[in-house]
Amino acid sequence: MLIIYNLLELRTALNNIKLKEKQVGLVPTMGALHQGHISLIKRAISECDAVVVSIFVNPLQFAPHEDLAQYPRNVEADCQLCEKLGVKIVFAPSVEEIGVTGDTETQTNTTTVIPPESMTSGLCGKYRPGHFIGVATIVTKLLNIVQPDRAYFGQKDAQQLAIIRRLVIDFNLPVNIVGCQIVREESGLALSSRNQYLTPEEKTQATILHRSLQQAAIAFRKGIKETASLIKTVKNQLATIPEVKMQYVELVDPATLQPLTIVEKTGLLAIAAHLGKTRLIDNIILRQP
Ligand code: PAJ
Repeated sequence: MLIIYNLLELRTALNNIKLKEKQVGLVPTMGALHQGHISLIKRAISECDAVVVSIFVNPLQFAPHEDLAQYPRNVEADCQLCEKLGVKIVFAPSVEEIGVTGDTETQTNTTTVIPPESMTSGLCGKYRPGHFIGVATIVTKLLNIVQPDRAYFGQKDAQQLAIIRRLVIDFNLPVNIVGCQIVREESGLALSSRNQYLTPEEKTQATILHRSLQQAAIAFRKGIKETASLIKTVKNQLATIPEVKMQYVELVDPATLQPLTIVEKTGLLAIAAHLGKTRLIDNIILRQP
């Protein structure tokens, strides 16, 4: 496995792979790899000839009050894991190398890559202004640098996935975006690098997010299609654990992210909540049979 920090070196390595007409898969990450990332990597390895995992904690997608400085970093362990899994290249550029510009401190930067307002004004975008500009910018850069045949993203970050799918359409990027299921602990808690911030007690309390989504899914299967009722079910469940401070519960179209009043075909039911100093997100797709 190659560990590459530099764009030129990456292009040379990729050219060699592509000359052999090999299918290249890309898994973009911010490192601190866990089973959620591993599931993306394994899927990429099963579907592509050569897999590139990028590790880059992108300052553009953190607001000044957010956890950029504390964000867990362990590139060495991540590389060992990638090697064991059969990854061909780990790409771990510096901020300078990848050319992240703008004032990352004040977030007054905007870039050329600005997702549609309609997709960033709700859900997490409402509470994390600038976040999805940062995500869309870095993902565009990575897709242009690596030019993979397929790129893998988790459904865990459903708004991010929808925005990336839209970006690929808008820029006619020649890549297949593969959405991968959420990996959870046995307790139902969705895996996240930020779970490292949770105390053991908080980890138990955090399972209410998934349980409340499941309650709504049960109601949906029983025939309840109205957003207001489904959201109420989630909120009532969440309220049983007062330490979990709800930020939002929304039910939107999974592709356009526009709010639904009724789930005709599919709906994305998504939650964000604070628990102690940790912000948690989770979601579920409701689909009419
Ligand atoms: P990061 O949080 O490291 O996540 C990398 C990828 O792993 C994302 O596509 C995310 O949705 C997926 N992922 C995380 N937890 C998961 C879980 N429990 N189950 C399934 N997939 C999971 O998301 C980012 O990094 C960044 O925004 C990035 C796309 C790399 C751009 O900087």
